[in-house]
Amino acid sequence: MSENLPFEERYYQPPYKQLYKESLEEPEKFWREMAEGLEWFSPFDKVLDESNAPFYRWFVGGKINITYNALDRQVKVRRNKIAIYWENEKGESRQLTYGELYNEVNRFAKILQDLGIKKGDRVLIYLPLMPELPISMLACARIGAVHSVVFSGFSTQAVIDRINDAKAKLVITTSHTMRRGKRVELKRIIDEAVSQTPSVEKVLVIKRDEEIELNEERDVLYQDLIKRTGYKKVEPEETLSTDPLFILYTSGTTGKPKGILHLHGGYGLWTYLTTQWVFDLRDNDVFFNTADIGWITGHSYIVYGPLQNGASVLMYEGVPDYPNPDRWWELVEKYGVTVFYTSPTAIRSLMRYGEEWVKKHDLSTLRILGSVGEPINPEAWRWYFKNVGNSSLPIVDTWWQTETGGIMISATPGLGNYLLKPSANGLPLPGVDADVFTEDGKQVKPREKGYIVIKRPWPGMLAGVWGDPERYVKTYFSKFPGVYYPGDYAVRDEEGFFYILGRADEVLKIAGHRIGTREIEDILISHPAVAESAVIGVPDPVRGEVAVAAVVLKQGYQPSEELRKSLIEYVKNNLGPIVVFGGLYFVSKLPKTRSGKIMRRVVRSVISGQPLGDVSTLEDETSVDELKKVIEEFS
Ligand code: WTA
Repeated sequence: MSENLPFEERYYQPPYKQLYKESLEEPEKFWREMAEGLEWFSPFDKVLDESNAPFYRWFVGGKINITYNALDRQVKVRRNKIAIYWENEKGESRQLTYGELYNEVNRFAKILQDLGIKKGDRVLIYLPLMPELPISMLACARIGAVHSVVFSGFSTQAVIDRINDAKAKLVITTSHTMRRGKRVELKRIIDEAVSQTPSVEKVLVIKRDEEIELNEERDVLYQDLIKRTGYKKVEPEETLSTDPLFILYTSGTTGKPKGILHLHGGYGLWTYLTTQWVFDLRDNDVFFNTADIGWITGHSYIVYGPLQNGASVLMYEGVPDYPNPDRWWELVEKYGVTVFYTSPTAIRSLMRYGEEWVKKHDLSTLRILGSVGEPINPEAWRWYFKNVGNSSLPIVDTWWQTETGGIMISATPGLGNYLLKPSANGLPLPGVDADVFTEDGKQVKPREKGYIVIKRPWPGMLAGVWGDPERYVKTYFSKFPGVYYPGDYAVRDEEGFFYILGRADEVLKIAGHRIGTREIEDILISHPAVAESAVIGVPDPVRGEVAVAAVVLKQGYQPSEELRKSLIEYVKNNLGPIVVFGGLYFVSKLPKTRSGKIMRRVVRSVISGQPLGDVSTLEDETSVDELKKVIEEFS
């Protein structure tokens, strides 16, 4: 038979590979083209200014306001498209079209101006996942003010520290949120906090359903101001690409959280692009990101990334298993969610209830699933893939950080790259020059553990640590000079897939929430009964990690069950209920080096029953024996 059959030698190459190559080979040209995706008030002179490295500046001289791209540009073409679907535990809902969101943000921006907020002023936002949270963020950004959102699961001391570090002039809050049918008081925390924050001039309170008690000199009610002001349009401030957009605090290795600073231009472009590359959002998509906006995941992929792309997002104010463990699946069905983004800890907690809860719902609208926050274990991956993804949907396991602004390593369905391996994060995104280094800064061999590093700047990278340039350089650019050090362990296989293994420093990931061990220790030792403490993380089947503390009491205090409970309570009241303890042990001394440093590594080995390793620098071995004994007695 000599029939002409349509064989083909060439095959289709997804754009990912080509784009990745271009991004590293011709970065200047690449970023110039990418930046054309956004609307600028005036063009930039320079793509990247490296003259003051590692304080890299992107798109220097250009004028752009992220809210122009997220709102003004969108209302021109999709005024009536839903920007935000919102729902709470009780099933109450609200929807805002791009036109309505635009109006709300303008109104809010006018009120901020009337309250005396100017370009560069810091505004601290302490709100739950209610529509006024993205609205107030956008309103700040619109007038060039700098927002700093504090997750509503943080308590008084955490709020005080953040306000004081940012020297915020205004605090925005509301009365409460509901969690599993119970009220969580928020304004009360602000009332306690602002007595210790001299920079705060006013507290703007958003009324929910009931009357709120106000402090006449300090508090102003949002609803009253709206009535007085009515609707006013506020033109977006023509901010520079390099002007501050927000500060978001995150934990590091000292007790003091770091104010991670992001700017209008670079962060704007990075969230805009990565949303397309990873989530592939199109006009009919409904994107449900279960994160709270108090974390970077919500900043980048509920607010700025999706809105700059004109997408519809769903935000849910509640927990996944209340009133029933199918709450999220109910929402997926109800809103026809197409792209779903969550954390491994949430998957693990829902797994426990069994797959029947997922099966009750029609999830056929879904087309991409995502994971973020910590490494996803194979068991959770398979459950997610099989039950939520019907054994057919890609799971993008996105590795990134508050500091990176947006996703760095992941599969990229938006660029045709669906290649997945369970428990691997995937390949770096275009522009991301990632590598794995040994302790002495050499590239590791495939399959050998090392530190992940990023070898050149990218637009979404942090611009600095608020008020602390030295800490920026020390934390991120001194372990390997000239190279960004994220503080995670990783391996890479022969095909270049990255697997992030977890933190390489004293930072915990409790249910995906980043908390420094030193922050918890600092709270513990502020308690009158505590002389010293060492906090470490231990593995937990659902939360990934939980905190365990070894505590030395001051003279005159005796160990008791009651004191144990009240110390745990004390930490939660001060730092927040997100700090979950796996144990708190009383000892008479902590393992220390001869120079007096607490050996957390030894505490960790004892608590997890692992070999002690090198203890030649240990000052007093009886400290280890005592700790062992205490733990045995307890378990
Ligand atoms: C961890 C959250 C493995 C990592 C966006 C990182 C992950 C820290 C993943 C940042 C992932 C985040 N796989 N580990 N897909 N995503 N991490 O600043 O340790 O709250 O350094 O940002 O979370 O946490 P952050």
